[in-house]
Amino acid sequence: MPLAPSPPYAACSTLRLVIAAWNPSQREITDLIVQHDPRTLERLPVRKQQVLDVFHKFGNRQALRAVEALPERDGSLDAQAIDGMFVTVHWEMQRLSEEFYHGPRVHELLRAVIATIRSQGVAGPLRAVDVGCGIGYNIRWLAAHTPLAEQGVELAGVDLNSALIKEAARLARAEICRANSCMAMRFPRNTPGRSISPPA
Ligand SMILES: C[S@@+](CC[C@H](N)C(=O)[O-])C[C@H]1O[C@@H](n2cnc3c(N)ncnc32)[C@H](O)[C@@H]1O
Repeated sequence: MPLAPSPPYAACSTLRLVIAAWNPSQREITDLIVQHDPRTLERLPVRKQQVLDVFHKFGNRQALRAVEALPERDGSLDAQAIDGMFVTVHWEMQRLSEEFYHGPRVHELLRAVIATIRSQGVAGPLRAVDVGCGIGYNIRWLAAHTPLAEQGVELAGVDLNSALIKEAARLARAEICRANSCMAMRFPRNTPGRSISPPA
């Protein structure tokens, strides 16, 4: 009986591991290690064992190893250490975005969307919101390199993770100060630390 052909990725051990662990109903580690109260948006403690149980269920040994290594206090993940890791990872993502000219590509897409909206007779102010903005690279890049503000487009970023928003606001302030126009960040009422809206 002829053997079934190997899938094209079979020769690559990393790809084999990734594909074996992939399951659309399996959430990402980063979605599980930070939790917020959906009503108040306050940060909630996360029991490490609860996260491990999720990946035990999927038999995902790689994820189990990664979660095991996360710092904890009395069984709960150390929120401060986790925040530090998130910020470091997002700095690295910003470096990659810079290297791959992500800003100009986002601007190109946004320009087309805005032109379409304007072509329908909408002349008033618009707001572009980056949902899940992390440390706000897209919004900060657009604010620093494009004339969107003069074209009546307000730029804003929102993220569930307050540590990332805090870092986004810090970087935006530093960039705005460098541009010699130290204006305050605008934060919507009742949602402190959840959004950035740098003046362009
Ligand atoms: C992969 S990161 C991308 C960050 C950023 N857009 C970038 O390109 O660097 C996804 C971000 O979405 C945020 N996020 C996930 N679910 C969210 C939600 N329901 N509302 C707001 N932000 C969310 C996470 O906190 C995380 O910062």
